[in-house]
Amino acid sequence: MAKILYQLPKGTRDILPEEQPYWQYVEEAIRRVVQLYGYEKLDLPIFEETALFQRGVGEGTDIVEKEMYTFLDKGGTSITLRPEFTAGVMRSYLQHGLSNLPKPVKVWSFGPVFRYERPQAGRFRQHTQFNVEALGEQDPALDLEVMSVAWHLFEELGFKNLSFQINSIGCQKCRPKYLDKLVNYYERYKSDICDDCKKRLKKNPLRVLDCKNPGCQPVIEGAPPIVDSLCSECRTHFETLKGYLEDLNRPYSLNHRLVRGLDYYTKTVFEVWAQGIGAQNAVCGGGRYDGLAEVLGGPPTPGVGFASGLERIVLLLKQQGIILPHGNKPKVYFASRGKEAKRQIVRLLSDSRKNGIEGVMSFGERSFKAQLREADRRSVEYTLILGEEEIAQKGVLVKTMKGGTQEFILWDDLLSFLKTKGLGR
Ligand code: HAM
Repeated sequence: MAKILYQLPKGTRDILPEEQPYWQYVEEAIRRVVQLYGYEKLDLPIFEETALFQRGVGEGTDIVEKEMYTFLDKGGTSITLRPEFTAGVMRSYLQHGLSNLPKPVKVWSFGPVFRYERPQAGRFRQHTQFNVEALGEQDPALDLEVMSVAWHLFEELGFKNLSFQINSIGCQKCRPKYLDKLVNYYERYKSDICDDCKKRLKKNPLRVLDCKNPGCQPVIEGAPPIVDSLCSECRTHFETLKGYLEDLNRPYSLNHRLVRGLDYYTKTVFEVWAQGIGAQNAVCGGGRYDGLAEVLGGPPTPGVGFASGLERIVLLLKQQGIILPHGNKPKVYFASRGKEAKRQIVRLLSDSRKNGIEGVMSFGERSFKAQLREADRRSVEYTLILGEEEIAQKGVLVKTMKGGTQEFILWDDLLSFLKTKGLGR
């Protein structure tokens, strides 16, 4: 057998037809939920100028330092395939003067993002995000709303045992003082921590709390929690949000170690975790980013949002054994015996499709037996059989696959017959 020459690039995947019902199920749930919460669609280019992400996501982050797909285009401009949506959403908001719209401006996006990561279960170099942003408002009720979009979606999908992790990482006023405290605390443990943490202490100290290295865990456990160092504005914001969560009976875990891997966050950060979807178990992550607009040269514009990875959602659907309500298989198979019969099924199938009946026919020179086998494998509800005898009587033999009964139906009556069976419009 010939050896195929090409395989998928590492860290990417084909979503084969058999998996598509899962994606359709999730995309339909997304559309229902965004509609319910009043979010409008915003489509962005898949690539942007590199500097947008360097500034927006932050120079010291793993994404910018190690993971971006960056290249010079033919005009010499440095371009990056988007590693996330938020910076692009803010760029678009500022560029198109969306601040003139009633605030908050609430948008959602959907599409591929690219990160050169070490591929593992649930972690890919191209993944698909459902992204939600609400811009122009400081209100903690908006943090709650954004979190509720995620919550509602996951409930709608039928997920069980998810856990909401929340934290506040303060603002430009209170965070520097906390970082001093954190670095001071780490001074005592310099010889116990990993090399990455040593670097993080210099470049991005908050990220030491996120370290997965076993040796660093006891040090992290004893680190001062940032929520104890919040300024009164950040504290009130966080307390109000927690109050709302409690009012709605939304269980959450206060996670002092949750700091997120992107630099733009202020105040609220959150993730939704699920067990068993691979090394990375966050099915969704987000937070508030009140300083991002200014970093991009815009006027102060608060914002809050999240993104959720579709591949992880689909993994979780499978892992939790969630049965999908529908697949989109054709309902009718047209089998023919002989050339003239084929002409007639081409015509009948065309009429059926015009009337919204999902049907397929046999192609090529297949024996009649092989056609019936194909109908079986395609799990259709009805097989329509047309041979010389049926042509002579201007009709078809309709075989009901479940039960195997057959009845003769005239061509003229076929559409209305199929409609009485619930097919078509
Ligand atoms: P993020 O946590 O980097 O946040 O990514 C959001 C979600 O995308 C993750 O929770 C996960 O479900 C999925 N994800 C991330 N990386 C991968 C990967 N390599 N393979 C598969 N799935 C992945 C952001 O991107 C922020 N922009 C979210 C946000 C929006 N914050 C505010 N607004």
